[in-house]
Amino acid sequence: MNERVPELQAFIDAAGAAFAARAGQGRSQASVSECFGALARPGRMGSGAGARLPVCDRCLETAVGQDRFRDDDDLLRLAIAFRRIEPALVWGRRSVRGLKAEETFADGHANAMVLGPDGIERRTDVWLGVSLLAPHVRYPDHDHPPEETYLVMSAGEFMQDGGPWFQPGIGGSLYNPPGSLHAMRAGAEPLFAFWLLRSGPVRTG
Ligand SMILES: [Fe+2]
Repeated sequence: MNERVPELQAFIDAAGAAFAARAGQGRSQASVSECFGALARPGRMGSGAGARLPVCDRCLETAVGQDRFRDDDDLLRLAIAFRRIEPALVWGRRSVRGLKAEETFADGHANAMVLGPDGIERRTDVWLGVSLLAPHVRYPDHDHPPEETYLVMSAGEFMQDGGPWFQPGIGGSLYNPPGSLHAMRAGAEPLFAFWLLRSGPVRTG
């Protein structure tokens, strides 16, 4: 059995507690529980060499600055754990093939996987990652087969299924059913959110 480095395990523990405390009832809560249940079994470690994009240097400090989580112990713990593993993340741009992306999107966003096919820990059953948007950048409408729960760590607005934009707020959570259309956009501050996707088949035993 592989063992995780303590910094990664600490991040998973902090993420598990925050997602479980903040995910909505019903399918979102069940998905979070299934994901973190699967994560009890470590995956294979990636190369460990991280890479940032310029938008990270511009916006990450503001987005996960610890002073904004003073009133939320679980989010503070998560933000601290995230900052410890962030140097190992490979930040990248989302492909906009087939999407209607605004001009500011390419250089105004960055995504990274902590766990997943391109993660610090390589696995296919659970994807846990982050998205960062610079101020006034809109992430294009998109959908994907796996269900998805977001944990929002900043200001910013979200859209689900073509409905009105809404602001979950710091520590807010939302759930996207499989294949449903969704998007997000930053206002005057950077938007920073974790996402958790259950991708693989459910294994019993
Ligand atoms: Fe998504």
